[in-house]
This record gives sequence, C-alpha cells and structure tokens, in this order.
Amino acid sequence: MNVPPLSRRRFVSAFGAAVGVAAVRPPAAAGGVPHDAGGPPVIDLSSNENPYGPSSEALDAMTRSQAVAARYPDASEQQTIEAIARHHGVSPERIVLGCGSSEVLRLCDAAFLSPGRTVVAAEPTFEAVLHYAKVTAAEPVKVPLTADFRHDLPAMARACDARAGLVYVCNPNNPTGTIVGGDELLSFLDRVPPTAAVVVDEAYHHFVEDPRYRSAVEMVDRFPNVVVTRTFSKVYGMAGMRLGYAVSSLANAKTLRAHASWSNVNAAVLAAARASLADEGLPARLRERLNGTRSWLCAELAREGRRAIPSHANFVMIEVGGDVKPVIAAFEARGIKVGRRFAAMPSWLRVTIGTPEETRAFLGAFRELVAARPAAA
Ligand SMILES: Cc1ncc(COP(=O)(O)O)c(C=O)c1O
Repeated sequence: MNVPPLSRRRFVSAFGAAVGVAAVRPPAAAGGVPHDAGGPPVIDLSSNENPYGPSSEALDAMTRSQAVAARYPDASEQQTIEAIARHHGVSPERIVLGCGSSEVLRLCDAAFLSPGRTVVAAEPTFEAVLHYAKVTAAEPVKVPLTADFRHDLPAMARACDARAGLVYVCNPNNPTGTIVGGDELLSFLDRVPPTAAVVVDEAYHHFVEDPRYRSAVEMVDRFPNVVVTRTFSKVYGMAGMRLGYAVSSLANAKTLRAHASWSNVNAAVLAAARASLADEGLPARLRERLNGTRSWLCAELAREGRRAIPSHANFVMIEVGGDVKPVIAAFEARGIKVGRRFAAMPSWLRVTIGTPEETRAFLGAFRELVAARPAAA
C-alpha cells in the first residue's frame, strides 16, 4: 500500500512546515487528493473523506479493470460479495451491495417504511435515511442527542412503538463523532419491537479505538431485525468510486435486494474493493495516521481552551461561539471547505481530518477566524 506508517518524526516535520493560511497550496502539493470540481485549489475538509485516497493496490486494480469495461460485472460482483462475507464471517447471501452505503440506506427505507409507519432517528445525525424516507410518506421521529452529544438510546427505544418501521443508529454518529457502546446497543435492541428494522450505520467503524464499542455485525444472529451498513468511502479512501454494503439476516438481505437495481455497482470499484480487503492491515494503518492527526488537532484546541466533542471518527465538531454560517463562508473565502451547518447545533463547526499539512492550515485559519474563549465547564 502506498501510505507508509506515519512515524512521529514525519508527523512532527509535516506540522513543522510553515504553512500559513495565505500560503494554502493545491491539495496534491499539500499531501492530499485533488477535488473533482476543478477551479481554484481548495483544501476540502467538508465531507469526511480520506485525504490519502485508495491504496496503490486498489488503484492498480481499477486501472486493470479497464480491460473488462465492455462486460457486465456479474462475476466480479459475486467475488466481491464473497470477499466481504469472508471478511465478516457470514454467508454471501447475507451481503447486499449498493452504490455507496447511501444507496443501501435508501433500500432500507424502501424495504421497511410505508405511509403510517415511522422512521426514528437521532437529531442531529447523518440525514440520508430521513431524506430518502420522504418518498415513502413515513413519519420522521427525531430524538435529540444527550447532553454529551450521544444517541439517547432509551428515548429512541421509547419512540419505537408498533408503528415504527425503521430506527437508525449512526455509530459513530455523524456529525458529532460520538459512539454508543456494545452493552448500550444490546439493551436497546432488547427493547425495540422486532417489527422495526434497526439500521446501524457503521461508516466510521474503522476509526473507533474505544473498547466499549462493538460492531453490530456480531448482533445480527441474535437480533435478525438489525441491518448493518458499511462503506468503502471512508477508511478505504474511495468516496468517488461508490461502494457500500449491508450485512443482515438472510430474510432482510432478500428484501433489500428486491429493491436494488441490477448491476448497481461498477467493475472498477468491485476490483478495488477486493484489493483493499486483501490488505488486512490497511484500515489500521490509516486509522493510526488519521487518528494521530485528530489527536494533535484536539490537543491544540484544548490547549487554547476551545471546546470540541471527543471524536471517534475522522472528523471533529468544534464550538465557534456563535452562528457557524459566516465562519463556514470565511473559511471558504480562504480556500478551505469545512462541513455544513447543522440546524440542531448551529454554533458548531464540523471539520474532517485531512493530511497533517491540511489540518495545520485549518487550525491556522480557525485561530484567525474564531476568537479564543475559555473552555465551557
Ligand atoms: C454516517 C454516514 N453514513 C453513510 C455515508 C454515505 O457514504 P457513502 O454513500 O459514500 O457510502 C456517510 C457519508 O458521509 C456518512 O457520514
């Protein structure tokens, strides 16, 4: 893989480079990957992508897939499903692929929601499930996060009555980066009626180091109403290539597949996904790099008395002390894209962890744009 481990010396020297806000260089020169939109250079820290991109093996696999561009990728799809199934220790029939995990979330809505049913989700959380639910005419039930910005699972369980069709748990949660622990999740699953599907979105699974966290993949046998979604967009660095999947019970996999388009994933990403999975140490190497940069950023913020939510993912929410909208615009004017404003947390800014240089440029701009204040108690 083309990403060598980030030694302390390299990390320090990357941060030691004098990169001021005015001296923002094109992302490729700053060690990141270019943005697809063209135009002036930007440092894109807005969408929780991985700045290191796919592994060199994945890139080679994509290049080689040109040779089969004329053919439907049925055999490759099956091989990839088998590789994912082996990775999770489940049968291939329990894996459903999607054009990104966003498509899988849409399939869940289509499969489990209908007029008169409810979709229960935290507020704020990743909004795809609520967005796609609109066409089903299901009723959204939004449950505010706890005071420490975590899913309020007891309140979400209480919201799951006989009408509940789907309850969405984003773990770690986007945009807060907080997690629910394995024990909490299990007692929640005990309380949710089996008539409601519990969709656990583990897009940021690979970044979690907290021993209380457990993947819901291991809970599907005991709770067949659980559907787990994963993606190749985050730690595997392939957001532009579009591949996600569900791990579920046999029955739910069949239902989800019935709502999917035929050949909904392309030959290039299928080959790249297999190459990525074959490198078993890849997620840990990237986790180490990106979590290392996140720790550095959070330590700097804490030293300056800034308030940030402890994150288990490749992004951090930071309080800006007022409406974040003009702050987002001011960053953009300096060539740095940060996350959008979340209505339920209007004074918080979400920033994706970039390369060390990108993250240092972000912090430089942040210091100039957001007045320092004593940390909240
Ligand atoms: C929690 C969560 N789930 C799913 C996705 C969608 O990812 P993709 O469709 O690229 O797999 C995102 C993207 O940011 C996300 O934050």
